[in-house]
Amino acid sequence: MIFYSTDGNGPGFKELGFAHNPFLALVVPRPIGWISSVDQQGVVNLAPFSFFNAISSRPPMVFFGANGTHLTAGGEKDTLRNVRETGEFVANLVTWDLRQQMNDSSAPAPRDVDEMDAVGLAKLPSQFVKAPRVKASPVHFECKLVQFVELPTDPKSGEQNTMTIGRVVGIHIDERLVTDGMVDITKARPVARLGYLDYTVVDEVFAIKRPSWPINKS
Ligand SMILES: Cc1cc2nc3c(=O)[nH]c(=O)nc-3n(C[C@H](O)[C@H](O)[C@H](O)COP(=O)(O)O)c2cc1C
Repeated sequence: MIFYSTDGNGPGFKELGFAHNPFLALVVPRPIGWISSVDQQGVVNLAPFSFFNAISSRPPMVFFGANGTHLTAGGEKDTLRNVRETGEFVANLVTWDLRQQMNDSSAPAPRDVDEMDAVGLAKLPSQFVKAPRVKASPVHFECKLVQFVELPTDPKSGEQNTMTIGRVVGIHIDERLVTDGMVDITKARPVARLGYLDYTVVDEVFAIKRPSWPINKS
């Protein structure tokens, strides 16, 4: 086994021959929360976050993790700043067909640019939040802020890591994904993040029944 230290307390990944940090190539696949938000003036922002997941189902809650710094001129990521201002966001599902626009929306556009317009995506209004939804995406979670968790900063750069937890107050599902009261997610072909610049797509599923006790090995 290769073993490396992440805090300088021994050889790191570079000394062991890795060109890039392998950490994120090992936590896979990561769902992508494609977060739309608005600032106080109503300027729309859209950005992908692969530090994203569901963290409970009753009530449904999701989180996304934003990295960056408030210590430099750039300031916080617009998404985070918008949620600090409004307490609301929408998490849109990224599908295979939307992979290019998703990637385009990660460009560091100036704060006054409407990023949905900039990447050529039509909007739909939300029911409970001001942030619009990505019309071409088949699933949207309307979210209200639960809390921010300020995490340890990068020891080298001082960059902050902030976890934003949102309560999902409304869910939109394209009816084309639903068969006999069940979501067939392969119809959406969601895109998920791997390491480096790699992605995967969900187009195959398998099921395993949950065990009772004692576990039946037959
Ligand atoms: C697939 C993908 C996943 C990303 N995940 C994250 C993430 O989890 N956290 C983060 O801070 N930035 C992430 N980024 C980078 C942000 O999308 C990028 O910094 C974006 O410009 C932030 O936009 P904003 O300033 O408009 O909020 C990711 C980029 C891509 C392409």
